[in-house]
Amino acid sequence: MPKILQRKRLVPNVHLIEIEAPEIARKCKPGQFVIIMPDEFGERIPLTIGDWDEDKGSVTVVFIVVGTSTHKLSLLEEGDEVPVFVGPLGKVSKIEKFGTVVCSGGCFGISAIYPIARAMKKAGNKVITLLDVKANYLLYWEEKLRAVSDEFFVSARDDFFNCKDYVPDVLKNIVKKEKIDRVVSIGCTYLMYTSSQATRSKGIKTIVSLNPIMVDGTGMCGACRVTVDGKTKFACVDGPDFDGHLVDWEELFARRKSYFDEEIHSLSDWEKKTFP
Ligand SMILES: Cc1cc2nc3c(=O)[nH]c(=O)nc-3n(C[C@H](O)[C@H](O)[C@H](O)COP(=O)(O)OP(=O)(O)OC[C@H]3O[C@@H](n4cnc5c(N)ncnc54)[C@H](O)[C@@H]3O)c2cc1C
Ligand code: FES
Repeated sequence: MPKILQRKRLVPNVHLIEIEAPEIARKCKPGQFVIIMPDEFGERIPLTIGDWDEDKGSVTVVFIVVGTSTHKLSLLEEGDEVPVFVGPLGKVSKIEKFGTVVCSGGCFGISAIYPIARAMKKAGNKVITLLDVKANYLLYWEEKLRAVSDEFFVSARDDFFNCKDYVPDVLKNIVKKEKIDRVVSIGCTYLMYTSSQATRSKGIKTIVSLNPIMVDGTGMCGACRVTVDGKTKFACVDGPDFDGHLVDWEELFARRKSYFDEEIHSLSDWEKKTFP
């Protein structure tokens, strides 16, 4: 079973896991994800590949603790094993020389955008990285992201960095001042929706990495159904990258809430059992 090489808390509520997975490390590309099960009683959850090391044969994911499975993952230690770690899944992000590309991320999207920013830079683009954190102490991977960016902005509500505005507002200002050829946005659904709104009037292609609920991750169960340009798509096999101007956001917001009650019960039952 795949072994945890490293698990550490990066900032409050955000953890990194580096896992031994040589086959995945050899094949994975920017924008792809894995499905992991923290234990044999848990559910399969998708996490974006934040980094990988082919020589070491390891894959790194970063996750926010939001419910039962992510809580369980945050308690794993070096040397522990997980029963399921499959990937790479999903389509590879489109990387080519577009010109000037804004790579924008919030919460887990800060790590998820890293391989894309790195590949965009390598392809010869000017990379403007734009990150969103609620407070300055929630920023992680700053050095890694600065190293692959021509310009680097962080928006934090506590005014510690360049600005205080929510990222889509910063994006609106950037596209007013400079010719931007492409935007890639990863993070919570609201951030991706508002970022797409920010570029719509200028017609700048805005790619979002959708995060609907997923189960099998192979296009069989239908859990991750989204509507894009009026057509049914499965985010796990047709995405997760889609054109943000064509996504049916209302449907996505509604479907993401489908299991809200079950998620809350699951977490409280597990907490009662684990921390009696
Ligand atoms: C392709 C893909 C890549 C992802 N990459 C990452 C990543 O790199 N890091 C990371 O932290 N998370 C990522 N997510 C989200 C992650 O899968 C969920 O946070 C996780 O499944 C929650 O499991 P849980 O049991 O801890 O919480 P649950 O009990 O299932 O849910 C708790 C709360 O989290 C919300 N939630 C549930 N599923 C999702 C979801 N798919 N996306 C966002 N919120 C959700 C619920 O609405 C609920 O409010 C990704 C999702 C997808 C589809
Ligand atoms: S997760 Fe089952 S079809 Fe996508």
